[in-house]
Amino acid sequence: MVDRDIPLQRQHFGQTVRRDAWWVQPLLVFLGLSVFVVYSTWAAFQGKDYTWGPYISPFYSPLLFGDPLHSWLGPGPDWLQVWFSPALLILWAPAGFRLTCYYYRGAYYKSFWADPPSCTVGEPRTRYRGEHSLPLILQNVHRYFLYLALLFLVILSFDVWKAMWFLEPETGRVSFGIGAGTLVLAINVFLLSGYALGCHSMRHLVGGNIDEMSKVPSCFFAYRCTSRLNARHMLWAWLSLFSVMFSDVYVRLCSTGIWSDWRII
Ligand code: FES
Repeated sequence: MVDRDIPLQRQHFGQTVRRDAWWVQPLLVFLGLSVFVVYSTWAAFQGKDYTWGPYISPFYSPLLFGDPLHSWLGPGPDWLQVWFSPALLILWAPAGFRLTCYYYRGAYYKSFWADPPSCTVGEPRTRYRGEHSLPLILQNVHRYFLYLALLFLVILSFDVWKAMWFLEPETGRVSFGIGAGTLVLAINVFLLSGYALGCHSMRHLVGGNIDEMSKVPSCFFAYRCTSRLNARHMLWAWLSLFSVMFSDVYVRLCSTGIWSDWRII
């Protein structure tokens, strides 16, 4: 058998022997993430129309200062309400969680930085620096954002519970009910849970440090559950991204009177 040296040839930017439409997926990712970033930035700076009845937009929860019906610390000083949107205190945490997510990193490196544009497609750089030097080494804080995300899941679940208690205008009493908005917020929490609980760091958290997991049944069970979710992490990531945006749209349109909430029960 004869050994032959075949020199590796560096591909030019965009050069590939692939014949499939490899550019479609990065393009869709670029469009999807751009829509979300533009909308969420706009919504975060509005500072109003983020509640309706018992509903609160997930972009504004937990609400520290603001709408007295929903805020934890009351309306806050007047200057704060005029100059500051409460969403700005909150959104850095879920944004950091998504920005450092293993799936999104792979997706936006390709679609925004063309690094590389897709597998086996030539990239514009000649040096590979990876994630072991600044600034990308900071992506390793992902596990800490996971802890915050788990806290947010608890808070958003409590918002769903509160979204079941409506103030009746005729009697002035609060009664149990379910509106279309309750379902929108509940589905949002379900999808966010599927995303966060299937996180790679979650797998490590529930069992990654145990050598023989089968000897710790509770960890083994949790590890198998999170691995199941992890297998579809990309799907959960996109569904939850759009559900959180739609939840804000729903509450905002109810608040501005463009949509009427449908009271199911
Ligand atoms: Fe995607 Fe952690 S890896 S949320």
